[in-house]
Amino acid sequence: MLSKKSARTFFIAGTVITFGCFIVLTIDTFKKIPAQTNQHNLSESAIRGKHLFDQNNCMGCHTIMGEGAYYAPELTKTYEKRGAKFIEMMLTDPEKMFPGKRKMVKYNFTAQEKQDLIAFLKWVGEIDLNGFPPKPDLQVSQQSVSNLPGNQPSIIQDMCMSCHSLGGQGSQEGPGPALDGVGSKYGVEYLRRWLSNPEEVKPGTEMPNLELDKETIDELVSYLSKLK
Ligand code: HEC
Ligand code: HEC
Repeated sequence: MLSKKSARTFFIAGTVITFGCFIVLTIDTFKKIPAQTNQHNLSESAIRGKHLFDQNNCMGCHTIMGEGAYYAPELTKTYEKRGAKFIEMMLTDPEKMFPGKRKMVKYNFTAQEKQDLIAFLKWVGEIDLNGFPPKPDLQVSQQSVSNLPGNQPSIIQDMCMSCHSLGGQGSQEGPGPALDGVGSKYGVEYLRRWLSNPEEVKPGTEMPNLELDKETIDELVSYLSKLK
């Protein structure tokens, strides 16, 4: 049994020591924040984007770093996952991306405001979060990228890969299937119709009409039909 006096000493010493540790660790954390957040990359545009993010209550539906509401997807890594072009389309007209299915607000952002939000989301994605959010442990296709035909239209990386995979790259989790071998699956005419308006080919499909112009479609069809 501790005497009353030694119990008090024990309590005070214990409190002082743990409080001391708390202060030291707090200072240490604060020192690491600028490096972990890449503070130097925080541009004017990203700061305006952060204000737009707050003013428009994006957190009312989305989370960033797990913080916010669980109605809509986590946005911490959305820049890396979806790319600027896709985000820009979501911010322009979500309904057009996913007719009749999605419940994201259509904001009337100016081109600058969209760029600011994209800059903010890009900056957020680069914060060192010690591995959050965890990546699913999926087996990546063994096919190497060098087996793919050359002259890949840049839109494949910028847009299609946010929903599809190809040669082991891109989104392994869908929602679209892998595009490997799609040239032996479908003919040129089908691919052209599909890319012009997926909904017309397959009513109710999850692939949005991306409003591609004729030139881009020609380029894509000629590339996709080589994927055999
Ligand atoms: C009323 C709810 C709601 C609000 C408010 C909202 N969103 Fe969304 N958002 C959604 C839903 C639902 C989706 C999912 C669409 C889908 O499944 O592809 C989405 C998707 C997105 C995506 C694509 C994410 C991905 O990985 O596919 C981005 C980027 C995005 N929202 C940004 C924003 C920004 C920026 C704001 C604020 C300016 C905002 N959202 C406000 C509901 C909302
Ligand atoms: C927002 C997500 C999304 C984007 C962006 C997207 N796709 Fe898709 N795509 C899908 C989904 C989902 C399917 C499956 C649709 C179905 O079967 O109903 C699909 C199906 C396809 C198919 C048919 C594949 C098969 O094996 O049946 C092709 C070809 C295709 N997409 C090409 C493209 C190209 C090229 C792009 C870029 C210009 C693109 N997609 C962008 C979601 C997307």
